[in-house]
Amino acid sequence: MPLKTFLLSFLISIGFSFSGLLAFENGFNDKGKNLIPFPEKVEWLQGNVLLSDKTSIISQSDKLKSYFIAQIKSFTGLELKSNLTGSSHLQIIFKINDQSAGSNKEAYQLSVSRNKIEITASDEEGLFRGMQTLFQLIPASVKADKNGSIEIPCCLISDKPQFSWRGLHLDCCRHFMSKDFIKRYIDILAYYKLNTFHWRLVEDQGWRIEIKRYPKLTQVGAWRKEADGSLYGGFYTQEDIKEVVAYAQERYINIVPEIEMPGHTLASLAAYPEYSCTGGPFEVTIMWGVMKDIYCAGNDSTFYFLQDVLDEVTALFPGKYIHIGGDEAPKDRWKECPKCQARIKAEGLKDEHALQGYFTKRIAGYLASKGKTVIGWDEVLQGGLAPGMVVQSWRSFQGTIDAVKLGHYTICSPASHTYLNEDPEDLDLRIAYSFKPAPDDLTAKEKKFVLGGEANLWTERAPQETVDSKLFPRILALAEVFWNNPQNKNYDEFYSRVQTAYKDLDARGIKYGRETKVITTSSAYDNAKKEFLLTISKGQAGIDVRYTIDGSDADTTSILYSEPIKINKTTIVKIAAFRENHFIGKRTTLSFDFHKALNSKITLVNKYDERYRAGGENGLIDGVRGTDNFHDGSWQGFEGVDFECVIDLGETKEVSEVSPRFLLNSNSWVFLPNKVEASLSNDGVNFNDSQTIMNDVPQKNSEIILKEFPALFKNKSARYIKVKAESLKVCPDWHPYKGEKSWLFIDEIVVK
Ligand code: ACM
Ligand code: ZN
Repeated sequence: MPLKTFLLSFLISIGFSFSGLLAFENGFNDKGKNLIPFPEKVEWLQGNVLLSDKTSIISQSDKLKSYFIAQIKSFTGLELKSNLTGSSHLQIIFKINDQSAGSNKEAYQLSVSRNKIEITASDEEGLFRGMQTLFQLIPASVKADKNGSIEIPCCLISDKPQFSWRGLHLDCCRHFMSKDFIKRYIDILAYYKLNTFHWRLVEDQGWRIEIKRYPKLTQVGAWRKEADGSLYGGFYTQEDIKEVVAYAQERYINIVPEIEMPGHTLASLAAYPEYSCTGGPFEVTIMWGVMKDIYCAGNDSTFYFLQDVLDEVTALFPGKYIHIGGDEAPKDRWKECPKCQARIKAEGLKDEHALQGYFTKRIAGYLASKGKTVIGWDEVLQGGLAPGMVVQSWRSFQGTIDAVKLGHYTICSPASHTYLNEDPEDLDLRIAYSFKPAPDDLTAKEKKFVLGGEANLWTERAPQETVDSKLFPRILALAEVFWNNPQNKNYDEFYSRVQTAYKDLDARGIKYGRETKVITTSSAYDNAKKEFLLTISKGQAGIDVRYTIDGSDADTTSILYSEPIKINKTTIVKIAAFRENHFIGKRTTLSFDFHKALNSKITLVNKYDERYRAGGENGLIDGVRGTDNFHDGSWQGFEGVDFECVIDLGETKEVSEVSPRFLLNSNSWVFLPNKVEASLSNDGVNFNDSQTIMNDVPQKNSEIILKEFPALFKNKSARYIKVKAESLKVCPDWHPYKGEKSWLFIDEIVVK
């Protein structure tokens, strides 16, 4: 410890009067900026203490002691000795104190004083949570360099969580996450005092848990054939799961497996089609969305199959809860299935929703006999809840309110506030921080039925390498409001801690994304100057916007945006945002085309949908191309009809190419045209030189594809250009929404 710090800390008097957040007003503003979630009560004292290899550790629990030593080594590089004793240097004491923390096992007190760091709690779990606070107090610079003096500010902290359920729900099906990645996330959850890992293992696109009695679940169900013919997938062996469960237990994280039923189960039906209503055959799908083929509720063997599966699942997961899904189960097949209809009749059920209630109750009853409590997504309210069932509300807060009114416990995780797969444009850091797991519509007594909340990540568009950037920084807001959700939340104060937390995240190798819509672009064409002016504005603090105009991706050495960009020739602008040399979030590519139809006149035969108007009539010849997001304002959308237009160039011009661009996004019912036809005319009545370009890209594709259909002409003269594109008009037979109206999206017709 530097002498000055030592003297200061020696001189202070230690009183146990807590001042909570007021600590920020007593002159030590920079302290505690690393703390997320912020503890209930904090008093900063003067001075720091220094961890060194002379520091001794006193703990009744060897397990916690070795965990602590290992973590300190991984955060700082310092190797503490487990057997060092003596009182001349700093002592770290972990102490179980029955009186210390009342009934809350996670409550703890942490005091950092001149020669002693002490964590006390009524349970090892509380000691564990307190250790995380201590880890957060280690400066980020030490974590980054694994070097430097490990100074911890003197303080008195008393802390406990407001909610006992603080979770992350991770979809490991749409994209598979490796065992090591899951273990890394268990550590990350622990660091932010989250205590539940909700592990999604069953989906239409992949079954991810080895079940020995039904080997085809993983031999067949864990693999899907992508549009390019490659196999994608993976699964966790039972040994993997035991390893992860043990790892989580050591970190006081409960794992809740989700074995979804009766919907979202196509991967298992591909393996065992006999448990469906129609008998199949099925494929593990590459489409996202809601599939109509689900388990048959009229067939007893479906239940015996699921019981066998759950026998193996419950043997692997020691926790009290099993999540059985229950969301998004269309009733189409059940309505037509003789067995399902016979079940409805035999059981005297009102309709297919009640049949889902029967399904849920039968499985819940089985699991109850094995000592487990089931959780279901809020759709399970429709068919009636099983006794003691927990409801996880996702569609809104209403599921939580309804479940509580029925006397059931609930987990509140509405998509509006906790679905971190949503772009930060729509669900930003501020919205996440505004979340209250216990809605104000409930009385104080009713609020006790809200166990807590979960951050959710659905991974259709989130392969493993992008998960950090989806979750961070917004999960910090959720971690804080799950733990400590004061009535008068101060977003600005939280925001300033997040700015400090970035250094800590960088030091720990977490590749965070953006807080909100990080850049907004707007462009205007100046007809007199014949140039576009591109303006970029920043949506969050502390970032640099950089861009290129040479086609390369923007990096930390690219041009720093400082004023609107003038564009007077065909240019691709690639834009990215950085925080301290760390790329955050999303790349934007804008194309400006100075082509021959720019700002001429266009007449459409069928009108675009007003929601997708690309700036109106002129949108297809305004020189600005879209991104792969059809909501970006550059795309025109046509529902269920062909596309046809005539462009009037205003005068006769040499035309060598007419190239319209279309979008494929089959998950959003947007398909490429079957064919595109371009023809030329000088009078606007008689069109000649017709060229037809056939589509050669498979429509069955989960990727988003932008495709040009270039029609080439040998330098023809023309004033008028007609472009026709033949739409599928309806979703094709292989699509989950076959027969429903489909879309055609076009962003620009480039004329050369
Ligand atoms: C859900 O988002 N379908 C639970
Ligand atoms: Zn059936």
